[in-house]
Amino acid sequence: MNVIQHHDPLFRVIPRPFFLIFIIAITLQFTPLLTTAEGAKPFFTNRTVKVRLQPDKSDKPVGRLFVASPLRVLDRKPGWLRVSLKGWYQEGAKRVLYALPGKRIFTLVLGRSAAAELRELTSQTDGDTGLTWTEAVFEGWIQDQAITDDLDSIWSAAWDLFATRCTVCHQRRIPDKYTANQWGALLKVMGPRTGLPKDDQQLILKYLQHHARDTIDNQASN
Ligand code: HEC
Repeated sequence: MNVIQHHDPLFRVIPRPFFLIFIIAITLQFTPLLTTAEGAKPFFTNRTVKVRLQPDKSDKPVGRLFVASPLRVLDRKPGWLRVSLKGWYQEGAKRVLYALPGKRIFTLVLGRSAAAELRELTSQTDGDTGLTWTEAVFEGWIQDQAITDDLDSIWSAAWDLFATRCTVCHQRRIPDKYTANQWGALLKVMGPRTGLPKDDQQLILKYLQHHARDTIDNQASN
């Protein structure tokens, strides 16, 4: 029979009780850090919001970040959050980031100069369309009221609008009967028919695009 013995040299150098105390101390030391590490937690924009390179209202906005976009919080200043977000752009059209490659779900639209701030991650070419999509990260400042960690509450507000305002002229349509890109085209026509403000139309569109035939199994997260 094999007797398992500890041959680990560390146990020889440091007596075991001290070793255990050492490990416990290290764990306690880092536990509060881990649980409060905001950077690891996903948040979502609860509205369409302007993005700036500085936490200052007089700094000209460099882009628009659309509702229900996943992001991470990197830093806080009174009234402001420094956030990072990921998205995909189509080769040659670096100013528009979409939530998923090939699916025109708006995440961020940047001004011409700000596109240079994007940090590229990976690229892939779509076999069907031949288009190349690149995933990129953007970092900037937004006002601190514009995020939530509760994506369900965003979707439930969107559903209420969809179920009440998109049923005035016809029956309620089924979100996963259309693709994300089909919803984009449909809402160009149907959105204005609701008479709702642009932001509300954008919220309905986001909901439908994330619950579409080709995205329903790939919910917004980052
Ligand atoms: C003011 C009336 C009105 C409102 C409000 C309205 N629609 Fe429509 N919808 C129509 C009409 C009329 C059609 C028939 C096709 C057409 O005219 O394009 C239609 C057709 C559709 C179709 C089918 C299109 C096709 O090609 O099969 C979808 C999907 C749709 N609407 C979704 C929506 C959504 C989502 C909303 C809410 C954002 C909405 N509609 C709000 C009038 C409306």
